[in-house]
Amino acid sequence: MNTSSQQFAFLDLHPQVEDVCAEVCAGFRQTSKSLSPKFFYDQQGSELFEAITELDEYYPTRTELALFDSNLGEIAEIIGSGSCVIEYGSGSSLKIRKLLNALAPRAYVPIDISRDYLLYGAQELARDFPALDVFPVCADFGQTIALPEQTNDLHRIGFFPGSSIGNFEPSNAQQFLQRVAHTLGPGGHLLIGVDCKKDSQVLERAYNDAAGVTAAFNLNALAHLNRVLGCDFNIEAFQHEARYNSERGCIEMFLRSTREQQVDICGEVFTFAAGERLHTENSYKYAPGEFLQLAQASGFDSAGQWLDAQAYFGLYLLKAH
Ligand code: AVI
Repeated sequence: MNTSSQQFAFLDLHPQVEDVCAEVCAGFRQTSKSLSPKFFYDQQGSELFEAITELDEYYPTRTELALFDSNLGEIAEIIGSGSCVIEYGSGSSLKIRKLLNALAPRAYVPIDISRDYLLYGAQELARDFPALDVFPVCADFGQTIALPEQTNDLHRIGFFPGSSIGNFEPSNAQQFLQRVAHTLGPGGHLLIGVDCKKDSQVLERAYNDAAGVTAAFNLNALAHLNRVLGCDFNIEAFQHEARYNSERGCIEMFLRSTREQQVDICGEVFTFAAGERLHTENSYKYAPGEFLQLAQASGFDSAGQWLDAQAYFGLYLLKAH
């Protein structure tokens, strides 16, 4: 139950349909067609991603959660209480609940592109943490976002778990981290989870699960476009593919067209040859040294680093300078 002093305000910065159309078409006009991974995340996609995080093959979530359990006490001591937590992509409710319990912040700002999923999660948290002010922002977190002014005087803590940083190209990851450092301000902290480089078989299994949940997640990007842009993708005529590219250090995900076909996107017709691939996601993996170099180049110092015993996943506490 909410106390009367709790604040809850929703800010909707979701892009207009015309802008979404323009962005999707630009990706399809390239010689190698591509679609941003942000199109995975409508209500269905967010639910499918939750299901991925529970798969046996998908080790990142449980490994990161175990790192939280062992180290959040120490992290909370470094950060202190009464802060404002800004979560980039309001993914797993389990992770944020652990963090809120450990930090006891004053305010929480979840930023996510999936409006319904965001609002539902934010309302649940506001109910369960009645002393917490909650200001959900529906936006693409890759853009610059002005935070609600109610949070201006609070110590800002960015929270970016789940190795979502790996879904940016490295140069874009640096730009994103620079923007986060600017938003947090000098002395602000960023708690970020990053998947490590490792045996390619372990990686490929994580993105090709036996139950086909990752395949459904990948294909849902097309179903999402059908729903929001009225496109006419035949989902059955595409197949999921995921491979580790060891030279680039990333999992590359594609949807392969199983036959020659045409698709109408906002009135523009695109042809797929049989076997042609649509690139949907890269998931970069970083050795700890590589990631800390990236963080340093983006305006952060290291304030702590925790790895699991297999060195599968890293949790980093960074401080903006
Ligand atoms: C959200 N992101 C960090 C996930 C990843 O592992 O790159 C998305 C995902 N794609 C396929 N499985 C999970």
